Amino acid sequence: MTLHAFRGELLSVPRDPLRDSNAVRHEPDGLLVVEDGIVVARGPYADLAERFADVPVEPLSGLIVPGFIDAHVHYPQMDRIASHGEQLLDWLTRHIFPAEKAFADRAHADAVADAFLTELLRNGTTSALVFPTVHEQSVDALFEGALARRMRIVSGKVLMDLGPEGLADTPETARGESEALIARWRGRGRGRLGYAVTPRFALTSSDAQLQVAGDLVAAHPEVLMHTHLAENVRECEAVAARFPDAYHYLDAYDRFGLVTPRSVFAHGVHLSDRACTRLAETGAGIAVCPSSNLFLGSGFFDFGQADAHGVAFGLGTDVGAGTSFSMLHTAGLAYQAALAREYPLDPFRALYLATAGSAALLHIADRVGALEVGQEADFVVLDCTATPLLARRTAGAGLAERLFALQILADDRAITRTYVMGECAWSRSA
Ligand code: GUN
Ligand code: ZN
Repeated sequence: MTLHAFRGELLSVPRDPLRDSNAVRHEPDGLLVVEDGIVVARGPYADLAERFADVPVEPLSGLIVPGFIDAHVHYPQMDRIASHGEQLLDWLTRHIFPAEKAFADRAHADAVADAFLTELLRNGTTSALVFPTVHEQSVDALFEGALARRMRIVSGKVLMDLGPEGLADTPETARGESEALIARWRGRGRGRLGYAVTPRFALTSSDAQLQVAGDLVAAHPEVLMHTHLAENVRECEAVAARFPDAYHYLDAYDRFGLVTPRSVFAHGVHLSDRACTRLAETGAGIAVCPSSNLFLGSGFFDFGQADAHGVAFGLGTDVGAGTSFSMLHTAGLAYQAALAREYPLDPFRALYLATAGSAALLHIADRVGALEVGQEADFVVLDCTATPLLARRTAGAGLAERLFALQILADDRAITRTYVMGECAWSRSA
């Protein structure tokens, strides 16, 4: 049993500030006590110091927040980030599908998974919902890397029987390989790894394969369902042509049992009110990806529409259509995307979306996202003086102003350290 403590400025947003005016938790001089990777006490230093007088204390200078949770990211696309010239469907064909074919090679998958997980930690991200490729071994490569780093990662083989040659599975292999992966990874990593049934999107799966995805979700109540939804105008038109009887894009998934409380849909830029109503009544959620939506010219997520309907959402980078691994930078872009629709996203709510909000979407909010007692001690130390400009802008500023400046001006440079289960997993100075 190892007990140790961290002293510093603590900030977390365990609940949605839109619905709870007491959602922000801030201790300017706080103590976080960790035992075997779990938070056992948290509060003002002055209140806890006596009780934990025998415990070694590590002072941390900077702002300590929960580890970021990226609700949608593609690890095989990290080396295709910043690929020029196309919107979604042509970008996939020209840049992404060729890159994903290389993941048939396990050694390549291992090398990229390793670089990817390191990049997450460099950016303060300790949990993520991740697209691999269609190849079964691309999931093994990612899970083995996450297991070695003790990170909380959710992923699952991509299903895409209508994909291009070299990247297409079948309904039968989709079922068999997904079942094998669920069985292989169940219980490993002491529950820090989770499985997601992952049809790429409606256009790359036949009806038969979407039905396989629905069967898998029904057979394994513990898994998530992860896919893309209503991202790009031309994609939406193609889906409407393929599913003429569907009321809307979401309905094409709904017909196969793919809209449940454990469903995470990336993007949701072009949603009808009817689709939002259905998302809200089922409890399915959206991973909002502002960087990607801007990079591929997809549009601006409608925060006001989602809130009006009570749709749950979190935040994702969507690398490689997203252009940064930084959830701070992504939060800053979410602000700008929201403002394009006259919605001034509050910086505390943006922090909620990047931590506990995304955790809720991934059904891991009981374990991570808020640095509450009983949760796993995944956290990040942020440096408000990481760049000269950031230092000038935050000098003498209050908490909300500092947090907003970090979201607008900062990125990986502001991550001093990343802790996983109470252990330092990445340090800027190392
Ligand atoms: N829709 C289907 N596949 C993809 C993908 O790889 N990236 C994005 N942004 N959208 C998709
Ligand atoms: Zn994506």
